[in-house]
Amino acid sequence: ATARLTIDPRFTVGPVNRRLFGSFVEHLGRCVYDGIYEPGHPTADAQGFRQDVADLVVELGVSAIRYPGGNFVSGFNWEDSVGPQAERPRRLDLAWHSTETNQVGLHEFSSWLDKVGSELMLAVNLGTRGTAEALELLEYSNLPSGTARADQRAANGKAEPFNVRMWCLGNEMDGPWQLGHRSAEDYGKLAAQTATAMRQLDPGLELVVCGSSSAHMPTFGEWERVVLTHTYDSVDYISCHAYYQEKDGDLGSFLASSTDMDHFIRSVVATADHVKAVRGSARTINISFDEWNVWYIDRYEQVDKISGIDNWPVAPRLLEDVYSVADAVVFASLLMTLVNHADRVTSASLAQLVNVIAPIMTEPGGPAWRQTTFFPFAKISQLARGSALAVRVESGTYESAAYGTVRLVEAAATHDEATGELAVFLVNRSQTEEMQVTVDVSGAGDLTVADAVTLHDADIHAGNTLADPERVGLQPNTTATANGNTVLVILPPVSWTALSL
Ligand code: AHR
Repeated sequence: ATARLTIDPRFTVGPVNRRLFGSFVEHLGRCVYDGIYEPGHPTADAQGFRQDVADLVVELGVSAIRYPGGNFVSGFNWEDSVGPQAERPRRLDLAWHSTETNQVGLHEFSSWLDKVGSELMLAVNLGTRGTAEALELLEYSNLPSGTARADQRAANGKAEPFNVRMWCLGNEMDGPWQLGHRSAEDYGKLAAQTATAMRQLDPGLELVVCGSSSAHMPTFGEWERVVLTHTYDSVDYISCHAYYQEKDGDLGSFLASSTDMDHFIRSVVATADHVKAVRGSARTINISFDEWNVWYIDRYEQVDKISGIDNWPVAPRLLEDVYSVADAVVFASLLMTLVNHADRVTSASLAQLVNVIAPIMTEPGGPAWRQTTFFPFAKISQLARGSALAVRVESGTYESAAYGTVRLVEAAATHDEATGELAVFLVNRSQTEEMQVTVDVSGAGDLTVADAVTLHDADIHAGNTLADPERVGLQPNTTATANGNTVLVILPPVSWTALSL
């Protein structure tokens, strides 16, 4: 089968914000403990952070990292996680039925971020706590000196403020599973009050209000309208969260998951702009897609979930999904969808980073390795520079049970005005057929293929594991050839390809 793509470097969607390549570290399972942090590991630094994991995080190319949750944050007392480590209390984490030792907190995490070159994006607890505690944390984090909280930070070893710019006003407050779950009306009022107070302290903050936990929540759409009606003038972003999994062996629908994400983004943009119109506002609210991934959530619900009054483990193995080639192809199409909406999705966080639904896995005392999803994230983060381009895709279609008629080929493209470099990302959703794709770059001179790589395997269920950590990786795509301003490339079935032109 064949497909055709038409792009033109003059037809841009919007600048690709580096914050699109953010990630998420939650105190959940082995993300922090036995993940990024393992004192005693052969590669651990003086603070206890694993150097092998830090190196992979740098290679992955993540910008801002959202912290410390997630559902965890809705029961978290930030004060427990600062000060001398030996004096920090052990606490129950009700969200994940675990014990939180508080050995890693704001100071440790911030110095780890310096090590990996990423920015901190902090979430406040609006579940069991409120405006006052959010203000205390902001004062502790951002005020230079001269007050109780600022001086406490200095006494704890950090004279300079952390100067955190991005803050999430709680987490998934629309979800009945969330500690302190509220109605849109109640959460909207609390978020507006907290945002206004936080800006009184530090006017330059970038604030994210909670949108929906998925586009399939019963309150979806109305939640955004009500929450933004309360908060429109005091926040900058509304969040979206979305996870996808193959259900009942329906690979066709799973491969088309980005259709749902695309609809989600368009609906939230429409709702935000509706509130803008009603209010006659000059401001535009953008999306922070601050949780997205493939997640086999049914496995967590049915197998992993912990219970029992006497059973609160430290750093249990939770949400340790092993990703296949097919998962990585879907994953890539999700990230490409974010790039395609770069004008309105200006921040995003891959959920999560290490061990917990993660591109990086670790074994205590042993190695760290890349999951299949590592490769498209690292490549797109590396190549998607400058502006996202409008992409016209002409391809065959197929019928999917979940999303109706969908295209066999999906694409995204970027152009870096500074270097002239073009990047084209392609997914072939066909389960049986190769796709011969012609990329027509209107207005370009003679093109050359600087690099072409493909993620594909004869076994679409193959993945990387402790026993075989390099089973799957990117392969050069030797079919890619340029001729004038067109490029020809062959995409194997169920594959993802990146072209650097
Ligand atoms: O990323 C795992 C969980 O998914 C997060 O804690 C929560 O926000 C979401 O439901």
